[in-house]
Amino acid sequence: MAYLGTDLYRLDGRVAVVTGAARGIGETIARQLGALGATVVLTDLNPDVEATARRLCDEGLRADWLAFDVTDVAAVQAASETILAKHGRVDALVANAGISLERNAIEHTQEDWRRVMSLNLDAVFFTTQAFAKPMLAQGNGAIVLISSISGVGISKPERHVSYDVSKAGVAHMARSLGVEWAKRGVRVNAVGPGYTDTEMLADVGRSRPEVMQAWLSDIPTGRMLRREEIASVVGFLLSDAASGVTGHLMMADHGYSVG
Ligand SMILES: NC(=O)c1ccc[n+]([C@@H]2O[C@H](COP(=O)([O-])OP(=O)(O)OC[C@H]3O[C@@H](n4cnc5c(N)ncnc54)[C@H](O)[C@@H]3O)[C@@H](O)[C@H]2O)c1
Repeated sequence: MAYLGTDLYRLDGRVAVVTGAARGIGETIARQLGALGATVVLTDLNPDVEATARRLCDEGLRADWLAFDVTDVAAVQAASETILAKHGRVDALVANAGISLERNAIEHTQEDWRRVMSLNLDAVFFTTQAFAKPMLAQGNGAIVLISSISGVGISKPERHVSYDVSKAGVAHMARSLGVEWAKRGVRVNAVGPGYTDTEMLADVGRSRPEVMQAWLSDIPTGRMLRREEIASVVGFLLSDAASGVTGHLMMADHGYSVG
């Protein structure tokens, strides 16, 4: 392997799995990994993931899909085995599926708390566990967990304590697993996106323009991130260009968390 040059950033011949890839940031991450040469398996609870994967194929990328619920541990394990059997290997995982629940702390019910933790934290762990097995067996692989600016600081004006705690947990999970698997060739990192130009946030811009204005005034660049600005960081962390990076939370937030 050469240690310098642009080839280090390529993912040719690798099989990469992305959760929550039917739309949003996950779809763009899948597109970027495909553009870097990987065969990408787009996964999502939403059966629209098939149409998203077909779009990527139409764009000339190598894409496959599988619909399953990441909160169902047995389904996740079965998906890992299915993908391994079909593609022969798994080299990369992006645990991206997540939800935010805007609600004051005092109004959080046990059900609210469990719903967020079950997807944002429990499912991230068990998905990582299931897809790390073939990587640990082959002695190499790379994993990226999607955290958030909410994992390192408290954004405003909206309140979502369960989301904040889950995303802080995701960042620490990357540190813990990054160290545990360091000698076994599997790197684990987290990416912390800032406010990103997705359909979900566009809705806020339409329905609560004052909230959108508050966000924009707190972002040092004064603009939302493009989804591509998250995807390129994920691609880097999965590539050999990041062979020295594990257990790290890399912010892609236009400086929001330090500004
Ligand atoms: N949009 C932002 O500004 C922003 C900022 C920071 C972090 N993030 C994080 O980035 C990730 C993607 O965010 P997004 O804005 O693209 O969200 P999104 O809602 O547009 O996409 C999430 C995807 O996950 C899927 N999903 C939900 N529950 C699932 C389940 N149980 N099993 C499988 N798939 C499931 C959904 O169907 C959807 O396709 C999330 O983890 C989010 O917390 C987003």
